[in-house]
Amino acid sequence: MRTYGNDLEKIEKDGLTRKLAVRRPDMLEFSSNDYLGLADHPLLKEASIRAIELYGSSVAASRLMSGNIALHEDLEIRLARQTGMEAALLFGSGFLANTGLLSSITSRDDLVFSDKLNHASLVDGALISRAGVFRYGHCDMDHLEYFLANRTCRGNRFIVTDSLFSMDGDIAPLRRLEQLSMRYNCNLIVDEAHAIGIFGNGGGVCREYGVKPHAIIGTLSKALGSYGGFVAGNTDMKEFLINRARTFIYSTGLPPAAPAAALKAIDIIESEPDLGRKLLETASHFRNMIESSGFSTAPSESQIVPVHVGENHRAVALSDYLKTENISAVAIRPPTVPEGTARIRLSVTLRHSREDLYHTAEVLNFINGGIR
Ligand SMILES: Cc1ncc(COP(=O)(O)O)c(C=O)c1O
Repeated sequence: MRTYGNDLEKIEKDGLTRKLAVRRPDMLEFSSNDYLGLADHPLLKEASIRAIELYGSSVAASRLMSGNIALHEDLEIRLARQTGMEAALLFGSGFLANTGLLSSITSRDDLVFSDKLNHASLVDGALISRAGVFRYGHCDMDHLEYFLANRTCRGNRFIVTDSLFSMDGDIAPLRRLEQLSMRYNCNLIVDEAHAIGIFGNGGGVCREYGVKPHAIIGTLSKALGSYGGFVAGNTDMKEFLINRARTFIYSTGLPPAAPAAALKAIDIIESEPDLGRKLLETASHFRNMIESSGFSTAPSESQIVPVHVGENHRAVALSDYLKTENISAVAIRPPTVPEGTARIRLSVTLRHSREDLYHTAEVLNFINGGIR
């Protein structure tokens, strides 16, 4: 029989135990990805309730069976427009979008060049397809170019990257990635999960930089205040995914409340195009406050602010201490981040007041001497 005691003991010894904690509304929350504060917006709630009244709480079938509703199709049109791509296809989550996309468009004849700090779902998608995978150093374009010049295959080659990295808050050199993908005849795939709604007037970093990748992946579950994921690409790709992406074909369509809320979020972002810029300015100010307390927040250039601690137990101790100050910020440890780089990850959102951010920076300032 499979037993778990030894594994759990080892996890504990390495300081890597993960525990579920119920969210407490009285705490100052820094681990939420509700970057624009839209998950609690009255218009999103109203839209979701209306959708439930109209369609019920579930579509109760995959979209290729009877689970396709107008809200799914409307949202796909809006997401395509927002990202500047021809078409978009919804998936059950961002994770399912990444695994569905990469496992279907790549095969064992192909090669995938993947940034070392890419999200786990991008790594898993390529593993499923059995494509050859080369992981280049984080944002290291020389390393990537070395691979591109020296690793060939019978099939297609893909460069895969997050646009805004989820644990460091830094941005991939997308213009350079686009140039390399053109020079070496590769398909560029960009995961914009943390950037959609914030950069490029809500369309993401590719749109901000004027970069046109082969495909963009996004999630509804962060800045769009809802739940679900999507892939944006050309219309042929969409049709291909409908026919080949197993996480799309064999999975129930998103519940009506989810696309309804996301559609409303896009309305709000379109009517208030400064929301993302406002968030980024607030985050920049917050990073400066934390840096002046002696902690490093490098290389963040966004609303995702890592506070580097290094050792696993120390990161947990810092997170526990913050809890005593009513601040909720989870310790991030390997394998989510590389060994020796444990940190507290603070997500700045538009729900945070100036006072909230000042208080948090003050607490970090106070404890800095003790923890380091
Ligand atoms: C870069 C990146 N891609 C994909 C995902 C998965 O998105 P979802 O939460 O919608 O499954 C995440 C989620 O944390 C992410 O950070």
